[in-house]
Amino acid sequence: MSTLRYRVDTRLAKLLSENNRSSEAALKELVDNAWDADAETVRISLPKPMTNQPIIIDDDGTGMTAEELQREYLLIASDRTQRRGQFTAGKHRKAKGRKGIGKFAGLMAAHTMRLETWARGRKAAFGLSAADYDAAPDIERLAIQWVGRVSEA
Ligand SMILES: Nc1ncnc2c1ncn2[C@@H]1O[C@H](COP(=O)(O)OP(=O)(O)O)[C@@H](O)[C@H]1O
Ligand SMILES: [Mg+2]
Repeated sequence: MSTLRYRVDTRLAKLLSENNRSSEAALKELVDNAWDADAETVRISLPKPMTNQPIIIDDDGTGMTAEELQREYLLIASDRTQRRGQFTAGKHRKAKGRKGIGKFAGLMAAHTMRLETWARGRKAAFGLSAADYDAAPDIERLAIQWVGRVSEA
């Protein structure tokens, strides 16, 4: 008989993010990520009531390369402290990220999310909808589409 394997239902993200149910808590996760990325400025745009305008969180931190996005951002429950130490590389801030689950905050606060990031002159971006997410049978088999991966920033 072949070996047995655990699988991870996509519902895990929701269970892990139960504390981020409110939009405020979700925003805090994203601002914490900006802090950890040594950002000086975070701009937050909130939608006007009763409109479909997006929530936009825009930070001027280090950003991620496409490779970092794949290797670090998408790795669920990865321990930032183990990976990069307790303090940020550039500004020696005490890092806030610990559990490696802040990444789900966007989808807790909205039906679709788009992440755009720039590092070393290159942009990487992806989009994801809560519907795609819910439809995936297993979190590891959720296909996340790159958008504009190779364009210059
Ligand atoms: N705004 C950002 N700028 C640069 N890197 C980011 C940003 N947001 C997330 N990341 C990267 O993705 C990783 C995962 O983020 P997250 O899921 O919030 O977990 P944690 O913050 O606990 O590590 C971070 O450790 C960081 O390496
Ligand atoms: Mg975080």
